[in-house]
Amino acid sequence: MNLERLELHIDGPVARVWLNRPDVRNAFDGLMVTELRKVLFDLRSVDAVRVIVLGGRGPSFCAGADLQWMKATAAFSRDENLREAQAMADLFFTVYESPKPIVSRVHGAALGGGTGLVAASDIPVAALGTQFGFTEVRLGIIPAVISPYVVAKIGESAARELFLTGERFEAVRAVEIGLVRAAVPEEDLDTAVEGRVQELLKAGPRAIAEAKALIREVAWRRVEDVHRYTVERIADMRTSSEGQEGMRAFLEKRKPYWVP
Ligand code: COA
Repeated sequence: MNLERLELHIDGPVARVWLNRPDVRNAFDGLMVTELRKVLFDLRSVDAVRVIVLGGRGPSFCAGADLQWMKATAAFSRDENLREAQAMADLFFTVYESPKPIVSRVHGAALGGGTGLVAASDIPVAALGTQFGFTEVRLGIIPAVISPYVVAKIGESAARELFLTGERFEAVRAVEIGLVRAAVPEEDLDTAVEGRVQELLKAGPRAIAEAKALIREVAWRRVEDVHRYTVERIADMRTSSEGQEGMRAFLEKRKPYWVP
């Protein structure tokens, strides 16, 4: 695929996807949405790739939706507007339910939909000083399609404050509210990201995908309602070839085949 808005580098088991529109701080328009969805979708079937790192070229991770593009939607019909919004919602869902774990490498600014990408990813690591914010209300709009992922991570209390004020906040606060997992000095960002990648590579590829599905299934549900589901999942996984290999490797004091 010829990419205009992204760069994709595959390095052994790690795919690095870079948002690559630095002139507008990687703000995403329709083309970037399409490309990112397609790349993430295609990577699902590349067995050799086990971890995806999502970063941004230039001074910022992502300034959210392209406001020129969003503004132009006033001339669209309601159906066209629904189609565009659906494509954006589908992008966040593709990030969220990617069977390969996504580590986001966040620096500079992650605003609006940029913060949404962070929330939808699995392990966001940010540089200290990164600016976050759900600035939508200050633009007269709302953080609609990103809200399920954000509220799941930061909870209703922080969402009420941050969605309603639209104020910007820094990486340390993003860690406190659970939006990102770690904040490190910018010069240590790549090392911190690499550390997460290495930990993920120790996990069975199928087990990771199943663990993600497990979280999706049990979050927000009553224990009674997921009880049987959890029983079935462990019954399946412990007899799977990956489960058998992982346990055998432990008992034989060796690494399972998936550990590099
Ligand atoms: N959509 C379209 N263009 C954007 C953009 C966006 N979301 N964010 C930044 N840009 C453009 C700016 O208009 C500017 O264009 P210009 O060079 O033609 O003037 C260029 O990107 C660089 O922006 P600038 O503000 O000069 O860069 P900066 O590094 O000082 O600051 C940000 C970067 C991201 C902090 C700042 O641009 C910003 O706050 N953007 C608004 C983000 C936002 O509210 N997004 C929510 C969308 S729902």
